Amino acid sequence: MNNEPFMTLEQMEDAAEAIRRRTKYQPRVGLILGSGLGGLADSIQPADVIPYAELPHWPQSTVWGHAGRLVIGSLENQPVLVMQGRIHFYEGYSMSQVTFPVRVMQRLGVEILVVTNAAGAINPAYAPGDLMLITDNLNLIGMMGYNPLIGPNIDEFGVRFPDMSQSYDRQLSDLARKAARANGILLHEGVYVGLSGPSFEGPADLRFLRAVGSDAVGMSTVPEVIVARHGGTRVLGISGISNKANLDGNTTTSHEEVLEAGQVMVPKLEAILRGVLQQI
Ligand code: HPA
Repeated sequence: MNNEPFMTLEQMEDAAEAIRRRTKYQPRVGLILGSGLGGLADSIQPADVIPYAELPHWPQSTVWGHAGRLVIGSLENQPVLVMQGRIHFYEGYSMSQVTFPVRVMQRLGVEILVVTNAAGAINPAYAPGDLMLITDNLNLIGMMGYNPLIGPNIDEFGVRFPDMSQSYDRQLSDLARKAARANGILLHEGVYVGLSGPSFEGPADLRFLRAVGSDAVGMSTVPEVIVARHGGTRVLGISGISNKANLDGNTTTSHEEVLEAGQVMVPKLEAILRGVLQQI
């Protein structure tokens, strides 16, 4: 698998311009919806909807359960741009392509990125349907050589060697905690580990991930967060726990299970998100 192609600033600007031509909204908040969580976009009314296929250079989402379109509109009086379906590394795209939408959001002036995902619980205290505030991530995929910032640095966004000491914004995390409390929603806190997928982890993988401090595991998010931080975008991250990780090898994991759990989580995620948007 390749790090190339490296997307260029011109391509990012092309896509941003195509979006500007199709909406009057100037999004301040970007929202990436994970597997099974796409229903949240239905709350955005009125909305301008743009299928990914109609945007130049935009990678197509090939995964069942990901709609593959942008929904741009207003939520709690904030102009938001929602990715209903994300792009994954395991689909065969380069890291630069996977994170292209975040770059386009930055060109559009997005200041805050909310990333959500479906994740498997490694922490034994978590149950399917629970939510976890991401307090930090373990960039295992980056440690294997797939960091989205590999390639020419685009100085217009940020520096060659960006700091990642506080990827997940403390103030936004506090707002999420407050919104969860106000709505009586249990919100765990923990470390998300990002792997490439698409196969789920085996028991030995999971025992390793637990030993190195992971609470939840998934196949996305970390590259997007790195690119967001490189460009100075503030990040809030929430994992939807879709399944218990199979540490003992006695249960199986399926994509159907992941999508099903999403249904339970959407209303909780929406309440937290609305609470955060009201306070920013
Ligand atoms: N592992 C990896 N990715 C996932 C899982 C899992 O158990 N559940 C949802 N996404």
